[in-house]
Amino acid sequence: MNFNNFPNVRMRRNRMKSFSRDLIREHQLSVNDLIYPIFVTYGSNKKEPIKEMPNIYRFSLDMFEQELKKIIKLKIPAIAIFPNIENNKKDALGSEALNENNLICNAIKVARNVSLDLGIICDVALDPYTDHGHDGVITNSEIDNDKSLKILAKQAIIQAKAGCDIIAPSDMMDGRVGIIRNSLEQEKLTNIQIMSYTAKYSSSFYGPFRSAINSNSLQIEKNKDTYQMDFSNSHEAIREAELDISEGADMLMVKPGLPYLDIIHKLKTSFNIPVFAYQVSGEYSMLMNAINNNLLSEKTIIETLTSFKRAGCNGILTYFAPIAVKLIQEKY
Ligand code: PBG
Repeated sequence: MNFNNFPNVRMRRNRMKSFSRDLIREHQLSVNDLIYPIFVTYGSNKKEPIKEMPNIYRFSLDMFEQELKKIIKLKIPAIAIFPNIENNKKDALGSEALNENNLICNAIKVARNVSLDLGIICDVALDPYTDHGHDGVITNSEIDNDKSLKILAKQAIIQAKAGCDIIAPSDMMDGRVGIIRNSLEQEKLTNIQIMSYTAKYSSSFYGPFRSAINSNSLQIEKNKDTYQMDFSNSHEAIREAELDISEGADMLMVKPGLPYLDIIHKLKTSFNIPVFAYQVSGEYSMLMNAINNNLLSEKTIIETLTSFKRAGCNGILTYFAPIAVKLIQEKY
């Protein structure tokens, strides 16, 4: 007689009472898992709605400061800041990225002034600053890896000196983590963390973000396929991770999030290093529009965020962070 079978085994016993469900729960989303991406812009008293992303705004720095106070009250541990650079400051080389007084550096200083404890994350990539919209510079109609690296390393140093805690290279040039780590060492910025966008896929889910930072018309190469990963591949993500770790990354990131849970799981089981997911703008817009139209409930937010934890994430960059905190506080 087999005792490991119905009716000796009844899976529903453990599910019957809520105390028991609480006890056996394997993953519990917490405020500590959340990183909030925020867009900043020029001027004052501005809170510009982003059409493609309901409830998400571009803040002038004074309004950004007010927003940060709310984020800190919610105990969200870290933010990722993205600048909306004005067109007349963009050029082929992304020169504005190397201006120590540019929008992102000023935003970092504002954030640092509001709180010493808030984690500040900044992208390293040239796309907010180039007139052609690419993450690197172009030579002979090609994204020039090695020439881009030199600029990206300088961008990283400028942002680190402005007070950023975590440098997040999102440009997908080969060798970027290594050159950034070397430059940080040379500048004695030894405690600056690198969260590498390790497996960053060439994705159509970034559309709303590109509108948010006004970088949506790509020139020369019409997409980012020559540097971002092909969404058909997964083993390649492991090679990217091996390289990033050997070059000095402290944390890895997978991006987008929900369509890539398999990649998160692979990286988590292959390496002993923290792994993060970026639930990107398109994922946010899909869900938020469905929620705003009463097609789905807000609880779907927690379900997606918990799926990242289940897949192996240490944390998630998500535009839902403030709503998620509210839902966590209300026990969903
Ligand atoms: C810049 C960058 C992008 C995102 C984060 N950093 C866009 C891109 O690579 O084209 C996307 C974030 C989002 O969609 O929310 N390299």
